[in-house]
Amino acid sequence: MPGNVILVGFMGAGKSACGRVLARRLGRCFVETDDMIVARDGRPIPEIFRQEGEEAFRRLESEALEALRLKSDDIIATGGGLPCRDGRMEALRTLGMVVWLRGDLDELLARARRGGHRPMLDNRGAPEIEALYRAREPYYARAHLTVDTVGQTVDQVVHRIVTALRESHARV
Ligand code: S3P
Repeated sequence: MPGNVILVGFMGAGKSACGRVLARRLGRCFVETDDMIVARDGRPIPEIFRQEGEEAFRRLESEALEALRLKSDDIIATGGGLPCRDGRMEALRTLGMVVWLRGDLDELLARARRGGHRPMLDNRGAPEIEALYRAREPYYARAHLTVDTVGQTVDQVVHRIVTALRESHARV
């Protein structure tokens, strides 16, 4: 197993914030699939959505997922929709320990809206966003570890992941 830690979860779950702190704490490199896509494509994500639509973005995600096979011992934050296609959670699980940062939908959305433009939230009302979240949950739930982020600080979430990593190393 390549020994990465892969963070999954809905927009606003704290994948980037927790991933960055976790990487620093463990002395590992931090990688974001969204950054890989932007670096390779040359356009910001909202621009890709605007010019070519969601399906084109999902194809770029598949390429990023392929490229992750070269990584080992990294901390990887995935985009909120990346794991939510058939086969993708299985692919992520072969790369290392997959951690779902689970949250309360209202809290996630408040955080996501503070943190820059998310094209998936454009032109969607509350019921549609809730439906999107519910449709994604079964994918996230296939993670090796679920960490509840409700009312937790970044440090508390990171501590929880570090503890789980130590326990899993103790078992092998
Ligand atoms: C998306 C989430 C975004 C980004 C893109 C699509 C989604 O990442 O990949 O806008 O489908 O949920 P974050 O989860 O970091 O916001």
